[in-house]
This record gives sequence, structure tokens and C-alpha cells, in this order.
Amino acid sequence: MTQDELKKQVAQAALKYLKNVPIIGMGTGSTVTHLINLLADSDFKHEIEGAVSSSIKTTEHLQKIGIPVLELNQTGDLDVYVDGADEVTPHKKMLKGGGGALTREKIIGSASRKFVCIVDETKAVDVLGKFPLPVEVLPLARSYVARELVKLGGQPVLRENFISDNGCEILDVHNLTILDPVALEQTINNIPGVLTNGLFALRGADIVLIGKGSEVIT
Ligand code: 5RP
Repeated sequence: MTQDELKKQVAQAALKYLKNVPIIGMGTGSTVTHLINLLADSDFKHEIEGAVSSSIKTTEHLQKIGIPVLELNQTGDLDVYVDGADEVTPHKKMLKGGGGALTREKIIGSASRKFVCIVDETKAVDVLGKFPLPVEVLPLARSYVARELVKLGGQPVLRENFISDNGCEILDVHNLTILDPVALEQTINNIPGVLTNGLFALRGADIVLIGKGSEVIT
């Protein structure tokens, strides 16, 4: 199976977590795109009252298939949030933000009782950090934050021609071997000018589904 077919396979397996959930939380990315397409064809789509979306791209897709998009401020905490990841460990710690939607993803994931992470098998790792760690920064703080990230051992690279849904920039930090993701998430969060970093370790996933071709494992 191709990587894209594995993404579709795992998205299919995630559908059941959205059944009987009136208001769902929806992530961003190509795996989630498969999930929304499958949702459009599901026999329970009409039972979904609305969704809280993590990006403009996901909002547009949800609206296209007829699911109303609601604000987290209206809904309160959610039962279920489903999202992809760039890397995930056996301890269910994730590295996310390859699609640049990390801030809203982290907010909605944190406000959800169940975080279901859906990945193809290439994303399952023992140690996070091979994928460059996205750090969303206020534009005026970009250079200062980059210098602080160098002190932490990383090599930050500004994501070219990219402005996030929040009007911010992203530094992709290369060459980090992240042995303590909880500590590093907190350390980077504490640099003034950082909006969010792509470590989802303080609040990891509750369920990780991995598409492996022959099967989907949990
Ligand atoms: C977007 C994300 C995505 O979940 C992550 O990049 C995985 O994307 P894909 O499903 O396209 O592989 O964090 O900000």
C-alpha cells in the first residue's frame, strides 16, 4: 500500500470514534482530509450537529460536506478530537505542525476528553525529533526565538512563504533528539514570542491508530 492508502486506511478505522458524538473536534492534514471525505459518505453524518475545526482548510472542507463549524467558545469541552501527527511514540507523545495548524490543534486537543491520533506506520517512532519541530512565533520575535532555539541545540529554519491562520510565522527546528518531550515542550513554551510548539507531550494522545496495510493497530 502507498503512504496515502495507509492514511485512508487509518482514517477509515477512526470513523467509529465519531459515531454518536454530536460535536466533534477535527484536526488538519491529509489524513484528516481522508477522514472528512469518509465522513461525508458515512451513514451517521446527518447525526453530527457540528464540528470544531483546527484550521481554515478543515473548516472549508467540513462546510463543503454540510457539517456546521462551531466555535470552541460556544461548545465548551469536546468528547472527541481526531487528528494526524508527524511523529508519535509508544508513549503517545506526538510531534505535530507539519501542516502549520499546531496552535489551534493544541487548543482543541487540550479541550477534548479523548484525543485520537491517526497515522500511517511511517510516523511511528521511538524518539521524537527526526521530523523538524515546528515552533509558531510572533513575527517580531522570530530572530530572538531562533537564537534561543540554537542554545537548546536545534537548527531553526524559517518556513518560507508561510503565514499561519493566526498571522504568525513558523520556525522548523532541525537536529533535535527529543529524549524528554514534556520538559522540552515546557522550555520552548517559556521563550517569549513563542505562540506554540509542535510537541504534544504534556497532553498526548489517548488513542493512537496506526495504519500498517495488513491491519490497523492501536
Ligand atoms: C498539521 C498537523 C498534521 O496532523 C500533521 O502534519 C500530519 O499531516 P498528514 O496527515 O498530512 O501527514 O500537525 O498541523
